Amino acid sequence: MVLHMVTLALSKGRVLRESLPILREAGIFPVEDIFGSRKLMFATNIQHLRLVILRGVDVPTYVQFGAADLGITGKDQLLEHGGEGYYEPLDLKIAPCRLMTAALPFVEVSFDRTVVATKYVNVARRFYAEMGRQTELIKLYGAMELAPILDLSDEIVDIVDTGNTLAAHGLVAKKLIANVSSRLIVNKIAMKTNFRVVDEIINSIRNVVGSDYEAI
Ligand code: PRP
Repeated sequence: MVLHMVTLALSKGRVLRESLPILREAGIFPVEDIFGSRKLMFATNIQHLRLVILRGVDVPTYVQFGAADLGITGKDQLLEHGGEGYYEPLDLKIAPCRLMTAALPFVEVSFDRTVVATKYVNVARRFYAEMGRQTELIKLYGAMELAPILDLSDEIVDIVDTGNTLAAHGLVAKKLIANVSSRLIVNKIAMKTNFRVVDEIINSIRNVVGSDYEAI
């Protein structure tokens, strides 16, 4: 029987470094060294499974549209993307951190209109709206910590892990928006049309990480 090629999208950086050992334990590994290569697509030991290496922010988009059948990326990216077009069957419990608001200390909370700089504009819009706070959102692509210092914004929404980056800029974390870890996501259509192969991959990873989730 000929099996369709299945594509698993991984997020480069820390998530990639921490997800490869889990995949290996699940019996899935690239046939060449990902870190020693400029390539973005890799064959695996499983003939009908390939890996692609993306920026974490792009993983939900590839999986939503079925360009990748499965993906591994942070919950922060999923919250920002909105969750359309895919299931989220597994928490890999790797790359843990928190999505938080932060600001300079001793700045009064403004109940008129808070200027918030972030790359997580959708997350921030929802969070501040739920708190009944008016915001002006400024989209940034990095170095959010500079925004309050240079008076671009009152607050930022960003990932906090050790807290060292905030501390290095004299900022303090304020409100927790969400706890973050990496998740396995699966395109909804691939889950139906390619059930046998996709389900086998999910189960082999589930056997490594355990599961808090109901089977799909
Ligand atoms: C994240 C985040 C902070 C830092 C927080 O950046 O944007 O800058 O990590 O970590 P800490 O609390 O341990 O200091 P990352 O290194 O992922 O780079 P990026 O934001 O440019 O993607």
